[in-house]
Amino acid sequence: MQSKAPFVAPGAGAVFQLELARPYRVIVAGDGARVEDSTGKRYLDAMSGGSMAATLGHGRRDLIDLVWEQSRRVGYLDNNRLTNPWQESLAAKLVDLAPGFARVRFVTGGSEANEAAIRAARMYHVARGEPQRWQIISPAQAYHGPTMQTLALTGRPGLHGAFGPYLSRHRHIPPSTDRFDATGQQALDALDEVIDQAGPENVSAFFCEPVSAASLPAYSPPDRFWEGLAERRERHGFLICFDEVVTGIGRTGNWFAAHDLPIVPDVIATAKGLGAGYTAIGAVLYRNSVYEAIASAVRSFSLGHTWDGSPLPCAVGLAVLGILESEGWVDHVATRGPSLRRELEEALAGNDLVGQVRGRGYLLGIDYVDPGDGRSFLPPELGVAGRIERAAARHGLLVLGTMPTRDGFAGDQHLFAPPFPTPDGDLGEMVERMAAAVEEVAAEVRDELGSNLSPGGGPSAGLRVLIVQHEDPTPAGFVHEWLVDQGADVETYRIDLENRRVDPIRYDLIVSLGSEFAAFDDSIPWIDREKDLLIEAHGADVPILGLCFGGQLLARVLGGDSHRGELSEVGWLPVRSVDEDLVPQGPWFQWHFDTFSVPPGGELIADSEAGPQAFVVGRSLGVQFHPEVNQEIMDGWVEVYRHELDDEGVDPDALLEETRRLASRSRAVAAQLLERYAEDIAGLALPGRRQDRS
Ligand SMILES: Cc1ncc(COP(=O)(O)O)c(C=O)c1O
Repeated sequence: MQSKAPFVAPGAGAVFQLELARPYRVIVAGDGARVEDSTGKRYLDAMSGGSMAATLGHGRRDLIDLVWEQSRRVGYLDNNRLTNPWQESLAAKLVDLAPGFARVRFVTGGSEANEAAIRAARMYHVARGEPQRWQIISPAQAYHGPTMQTLALTGRPGLHGAFGPYLSRHRHIPPSTDRFDATGQQALDALDEVIDQAGPENVSAFFCEPVSAASLPAYSPPDRFWEGLAERRERHGFLICFDEVVTGIGRTGNWFAAHDLPIVPDVIATAKGLGAGYTAIGAVLYRNSVYEAIASAVRSFSLGHTWDGSPLPCAVGLAVLGILESEGWVDHVATRGPSLRRELEEALAGNDLVGQVRGRGYLLGIDYVDPGDGRSFLPPELGVAGRIERAAARHGLLVLGTMPTRDGFAGDQHLFAPPFPTPDGDLGEMVERMAAAVEEVAAEVRDELGSNLSPGGGPSAGLRVLIVQHEDPTPAGFVHEWLVDQGADVETYRIDLENRRVDPIRYDLIVSLGSEFAAFDDSIPWIDREKDLLIEAHGADVPILGLCFGGQLLARVLGGDSHRGELSEVGWLPVRSVDEDLVPQGPWFQWHFDTFSVPPGGELIADSEAGPQAFVVGRSLGVQFHPEVNQEIMDGWVEVYRHELDDEGVDPDALLEETRRLASRSRAVAAQLLERYAEDIAGLALPGRRQDRS
């Protein structure tokens, strides 16, 4: 099942991905705080599996064994009519850890937990004879899940998308952030106003994350807000539900983040850390008052899901809590968290892109600002959070950036949330890599903001192209000229002579020409750098045009292969094309009859009797043959290799003669290929009109 391609290209594969235009990095293994991609590259996982669920790190033997043993004993039982000791024990353990809470309902994940919290609040009021109470109030800048009720709890139109008609009309208040409302008073005023609009008698609950996760990384309102919220609960009789899907089970250095706030919620929904990434489980904790009200009025608190409270997830949850307790990880997060935050702050100090480092325990957030005034959001078109995320991955670090700028309450930001048992050395390295990534992007962003360049750093009109070369090759001449004709801003990178740090996102197109001696030889010192660059470009959805040996290299880094051909080394070869507008049928000149296999997710667009000759993957194109061979190129080439051609039994003069005959066509064909590729596959707008060079 393992593919060598480091990314699944946008639109490739059978998975209906969340983001259709994004390439997906393929991770094949994990161990502690490190994961490994399909090429063997290792990353420090500062996101605990990406979603902060893998709180105990990857590959813990004891948990793996437990899953095996529990599955052998009994893995699944429905809890509609049956219960089991693992569900009972886990519930008892959780109410132990959350004083004041009396009952627990298990579910499969975070959204289901939040839904069960919403249902409980509603049933509480109905049970108490107030059936008109249904509305929920929540901070607008939040994420509670993708189900229709949880989606309705966020006030971010960008997230609601097409689902508006399905969403209940809950109400929102602006979040009280340092930037807009440092005291929390404005949020309280907004809460009063919204309660008034809804009618206090209609409000069921206030729903929020005690410390925000991805939507406002690691932010928690000031105490004044929590105290004011508690006062209003007293006054108006609604419930307070905490979404502790991320913060629960140790993430903020306490069993629940609620324990550190001057307020006690009525319901807590939690999930991720309870299964620690070893099982899918969520839990909802209800205070006794909520349970009693419901239980005294009705005989059921339905509805449930198939996997609720099943032995396997509950046994894992129990083992996770056992490990956290016996190995002291929650205390560890509580004591190590503040110093980790300080280390991150110090490493980022002096970087004018960084507005704030904040957070509790191992839930840390970095907030970026415009270096111009140290306060404003960065222009979203610069895509800073995404660029830092990619730069971090280049440094071997996984973090998560978000950019909800258009919602108006937050801009570019990052989460930094390592697994609890991450050794100090790895934490230090995570911090260093993060700082290096931020510094790299900051240097570019300062330039871009300073010179008013368009995102990516080039003049807004032209295409920014990087040609990666190993030598002074003739073929680049034509491609280079064609690009210049298009008005492109072309930069050449002699990767064999220079060692630059290249952020592919700064370019609209990367051209790789490769070279014969490096096509099959991975010991060439710069070849890894070129591979990394191509992988990263592909990962960032920057189109790559791989020509000849560059096409072979492209095929290989994306999980395909290249092969030395057995046919004669030089000559003309009929090329069959799948799409004649893109690649007209050959004969095409070949320096060598090498081929490649089409990488996973790619599409074959031309082949010959020697094998595949051109493929498309995402926005990238690999071409084996030379569509642009002309007399000039041939003359030079034959000059250099005349003796070898003789040795191979190829008559150099006949070859030149045939080339002359076909040369006039080849330039037009190459231009057609490049034009169609750039516009239809890479999706680049060619700004310049091609000039007639004749
Ligand atoms: C704070 C918060 N609540 C709820 C959810 C939804 O949880 P799930 O994806 O398990 O349904 C998430 C998921 O990221 C979350 O971060």
